[in-house]
Amino acid sequence: MKRLSLITGGESHGPGLTATLTGMPAGLEVDYELLRRDMARRMHGYGRGNRMKIESDEVEVHGGVRGAVTLGSPLVLWVANRDYKNWQPMMDPVETLPHRVEQRRVHQPRPGHTDLAGGLKYLHRDLRNVLERASARETAARVAAGAFAKMLLRAVGCELASGVRSLGPVGLGGPVPTWQDLEQVDDRSPLRAIRRDLEPEMVRLVDRAKEEGETLGGAVTVIAHGVPAGLGSHVQWDEKLDGRLAQAALSVPAVKAVEIGAALTASAGFGSQAHDAIEPDGAGRWRRPTNRAGGLEGGVTNGEDLVLTLYKKPIATLRKGLPSIDLDTLEAHESQYERSDVTALPAAGVIGEAMVALVLADALLDKLGGDSMSEVLAHWRQTLELQERWPGAPA
Ligand SMILES: Cc1cc2nc3c(=O)[nH]c(=O)nc-3n(C[C@H](O)[C@H](O)[C@H](O)COP(=O)(O)O)c2cc1C
Repeated sequence: MKRLSLITGGESHGPGLTATLTGMPAGLEVDYELLRRDMARRMHGYGRGNRMKIESDEVEVHGGVRGAVTLGSPLVLWVANRDYKNWQPMMDPVETLPHRVEQRRVHQPRPGHTDLAGGLKYLHRDLRNVLERASARETAARVAAGAFAKMLLRAVGCELASGVRSLGPVGLGGPVPTWQDLEQVDDRSPLRAIRRDLEPEMVRLVDRAKEEGETLGGAVTVIAHGVPAGLGSHVQWDEKLDGRLAQAALSVPAVKAVEIGAALTASAGFGSQAHDAIEPDGAGRWRRPTNRAGGLEGGVTNGEDLVLTLYKKPIATLRKGLPSIDLDTLEAHESQYERSDVTALPAAGVIGEAMVALVLADALLDKLGGDSMSEVLAHWRQTLELQERWPGAPA
């Protein structure tokens, strides 16, 4: 990111998680209700493990805000791990109890998780030292920071939403969801499915996977609506917003592919069916009858909705185990089981929203500049005015 920077810290069963977000302008009103709601939305979803019943994520703001208004200084956020009290003997930063550490030592790496690669990289014998940080618990800190990015975007009329597009094979290959589809998603429904008619079948599939010691993946769609035109740039490879968004989306744990707009169907057809016509709107401007490009052309936002679908692999921790080895003997052994979700797709959508919001907020500040909201909004009004006048009267 160019203008914003986000660093998170903390282990899954340690005392808690931190997020430090720098670069946010002063004078932004903090919407604590939005923050609370997004933290709760990340925890929800049919198929989550028992951990989500223990935690009730609340964000403490430890810096950067005074009287519900940002100061321009680093935002310092803290999310306590309520489960820490059960893990302190194994996770205490000062002193641990060796026999308890040994009881929870991880030495049969899970294929698809970070255990083996992370152990090899950091030369840890206890793979818990890897999984504690690789755990998607860390995303609670990202969602907290992302809520502040959403508050900034809302000030220029941009909102975000998400929903589960497919779970396993259910819903796969369906049409690309629109903003209107996402507005119908019920955050309290079991899986936050975009197509409510598919949700009972999805729930049955989760039940079956759970019974069989299996796990599931799927796809979530994230849409930003009211996106300012002209964010990102075509002039340099690392300024293209599609690339920056893809990196952020792929950083969501277990997300392995990202689709912008209708990229998959477009790649399989003729060009005339892949692009979005530009036609006069009859009122001196233009319109785009379709949005197959998902709001981006040349790495620049074109004013249409930004549409991203994130494809998530099935969870790597299977109750029935996967073929692996025991690092103590180097002999074949089933992978270790650690309390786990069967699927975490609904949460992945909320995390996706946070990541997209952070990239968009960064691109917005990069374009507009400004240290205070007054400056940001003044520059925003000026940009809108200039864009509305472009390209000027016909010759
Ligand atoms: C919200 C969320 C919850 C997750 N919960 C689990 C889990 O309970 N068990 C598990 O093995 N993986 C879980 N994952 C996936 C792992 O965090 C991920 O596969 C792992 O960190 C390895 O990273 P990679 O899959 O991106 O390569 C979850 C992912 C997300 C987004």
